[in-house]
Amino acid sequence: RKAVTGLKDVAPFPIGGAVSIRKLAGDTALRAIVTTEFSSLTSTNDMKMYSIAAREGQLDFARADSTVAFAEANGMRMFGHALVWHYGLPEYITSKDRAGMEAFLTEYIDTVVTHFRGRVDGWDVVNEVFDTRGGELRATPFYTAMGEDYIELAFRTAHAADPQAKLFINDFGTERDTSKLNALVDLVVRMRQTGVPIHGIGFQWHQQMRDDTAVIRQTLRRAAATGLLLHISELDLIFNTHNDAAGGGVEEISRMTPELLAAQADRYETLARIYRQEVPAPQRYGITFWDFTDRDTWIRGFFDMNDWPTLYDDDLQPKPAYDGFRRGL
Ligand code: XIL
Repeated sequence: RKAVTGLKDVAPFPIGGAVSIRKLAGDTALRAIVTTEFSSLTSTNDMKMYSIAAREGQLDFARADSTVAFAEANGMRMFGHALVWHYGLPEYITSKDRAGMEAFLTEYIDTVVTHFRGRVDGWDVVNEVFDTRGGELRATPFYTAMGEDYIELAFRTAHAADPQAKLFINDFGTERDTSKLNALVDLVVRMRQTGVPIHGIGFQWHQQMRDDTAVIRQTLRRAAATGLLLHISELDLIFNTHNDAAGGGVEEISRMTPELLAAQADRYETLARIYRQEVPAPQRYGITFWDFTDRDTWIRGFFDMNDWPTLYDDDLQPKPAYDGFRRGL
C-alpha cells in the first residue's frame, strides 16, 4: 500500500476545508478527501448564528456538535465560523433595539463560545463588518442598533468565554479595494491599541482569475505588518464574475478547457506561494478552502452561475489546480 500524503503533510502551515456535516456524513469519497488532505475544519453554515439561533429562545447545537466531533475524531483543528454575521438572520434578531441587541449578542456569544470552549481553536468573531466596497462599516442590524460598539462587545465577550481561543475579524475583497483594506487595518490597529482582544485577520479570498496578484501580495504584506495571525479563510477561484450580491453572476465562460484549467493551476500555485512568502511562520494560521469540489461549490447556487472554482472536479477527482496549489506550498 502506498502511503498517501495530503496537502496537510506537505504544507508548512494548517490546510483547512469548509464542510457541511450532512454532506460529509453521507459521502465516503468526500470524507476521504477531508481526512487525507486537511488538518483544519470549518463548518460552512452549521456554526452560523442563522443556524444555531434560528428559533427565538432556543439554541440548536446538533449539527455544530457533530462537526466538532468529526474534527476531533480525525485529529483536526476546528475553526468556528462565524459568531456575528448579518446575512440570513431571522427577523426576531434583526428587529432588536440597542439594549435588546446588546443583551442578545452578549448572551449568544457567551453561550456559544462557552459551549465549545477548549474544542474550537479560533473563531471568526465578526464577519463582513465592512461594506462590499469603500471601507465604511456596513449598516447591519447590529450596527443599526449599536453603532460600532457591537464589534468590541463581540470580541470582549468571546474572549471572556474562552481566553485561549484565537479571535479573528474576517472579510472579503480587501485585495480588490484599497479603501477597504485601509479601513480594516485601521480598525484592527485601533482595537489592539485599546486592548480589545483580537488575534487575527481572516481574508476570505474568494478570488477571480482577473484579480491582480501583485495587489494580493501587497495586501498580505500590509496585513503581516500588524503582527497578527493571518488566515486565508475561504479560498476559491472563479473564472466568471459577480457583483458580490446573491444571484449577481455574469457568466462569460461556459465550459472548461485544458488551457483554462492550467491557468487556474498556475494561479493556485501563485496564491499558495504568496502566502508562504509574505506571512512569517508564526503568523500563519493557514489556508482554508471554501468548498473543495466543483460539485459542491457554493458559487453556483449563490450567484446563480456556472463555475469551476475548486481543487476537485464534479466527479471528485483532483484537478490541475490541486497540483498547482501543492507546488506552491
Ligand atoms: C456561504 C455558504 O457557502 C452558503 O452555503 C450559504 O448559503 C451562504 O453562505 N462569505 C462567508 C461565508 O463568510 O459564510 C459564505 O458562505 C460565503 C461568503
